[in-house]
Amino acid sequence: SAAEKGGWDSFMDKEIHEDPAAVQRTLIGRMSDDGTIHLDEVHIDEHELKAVDKIIVVACGTASYAGMVAKYAIEHWVRVPVEVELAHEFRYRDPILTPRTLVVAISQSGETMDTLMALRHAREQGSKVLAICNTQGASIARESDAVLYTHAGPEVAVASTKAFVAQITAAYILGLYLAQLKGTVFRDEIRNTFDQLQAMPRKIQWVLDTQPSTIEQAAVQLADARSFLFLGRHVGYPVAMEGALKLKEIAYTFTEGFAAGELKHGPIALVDEGEPIVFIVPPARGRNVLHAKVLSGIEEVKARGAYIIAVAEVGDKDVERYADVIFWRPECPTLMSPLVDVVPLQLFAMDMAKQKGYDVDKPRNLAKSVTVE
Ligand code: G6P
Repeated sequence: SAAEKGGWDSFMDKEIHEDPAAVQRTLIGRMSDDGTIHLDEVHIDEHELKAVDKIIVVACGTASYAGMVAKYAIEHWVRVPVEVELAHEFRYRDPILTPRTLVVAISQSGETMDTLMALRHAREQGSKVLAICNTQGASIARESDAVLYTHAGPEVAVASTKAFVAQITAAYILGLYLAQLKGTVFRDEIRNTFDQLQAMPRKIQWVLDTQPSTIEQAAVQLADARSFLFLGRHVGYPVAMEGALKLKEIAYTFTEGFAAGELKHGPIALVDEGEPIVFIVPPARGRNVLHAKVLSGIEEVKARGAYIIAVAEVGDKDVERYADVIFWRPECPTLMSPLVDVVPLQLFAMDMAKQKGYDVDKPRNLAKSVTVE
């Protein structure tokens, strides 16, 4: 009903606007005054967590892209290899699981059958399973050794939005906690990073307050485009994948997301006059080498007539020179950028679907939670 949508046109619209709250609520109660992270409800023995020598994230869809983002942060902080695997691939390939493997099952609904079967398999092999889940008491939460709840609130629209930013937040908290246990990051640095996380809801809000008209205009202009490419590097790569998924899910536009570095290994062959390409541009500050690399990708496709849509940091003059449309992000560290960068892509997918007259909450052929294999 209209009341349930809280004044928004659709649940998706409402839920995108809850992105800041989803991050903020997931952070509540995690940092204590002495600068240490608390995961009190995670009842896995500290010694066992300290001994973890490999992490495998299992998930499907949007949750798997949250896992891909988390891999960059967790490996950087914890110095433990992180694999991210689609749950349905994982359990049919005889994965290497030991008691020192921590399997992290990410699921909004907590009922995705493939993810549930993957965690059962992991536990049978003697690995510990920690769930990152948005639904209290769901099957995935109940069957795991421990649960870290995301507090995004119920998500109704089929395409996942606020759950994604909450999943990244929860996985980052887990990463910082493991870094604290293993002593791989100094205490003040853990606190600094946590403060960076706490600053994100405000930055997401800035995007929601200032960018929608640009995004809507872009959707009006591009509604008839036949296909889109989404490119990013580092944490921008999973964000590109998620942006591509959102657009194909609800606007039924053919999309492909890939790592920007792969451009010359194939995708550039697709680039033709007017082809819309979305680039996730990393921050330019700190002489970030990745910024220059993404920029050269933009130059290459621009020279071939592509229509460039960029997600870039406020004040990025280089991007301004080449991009046809820019969705701006406020300044933030690279590892934090996915939490803001996905937001304009969620809005863009929604606006595209609206332009095309589709029901954004109930895309054809898709289910909110896939409880069959
Ligand atoms: C379905 C939904 C997606 C979701 C995926 C995983 O495909 O349409 O939005 O990302 O399932 O769902 P889960 O509940 O496990 O996060």
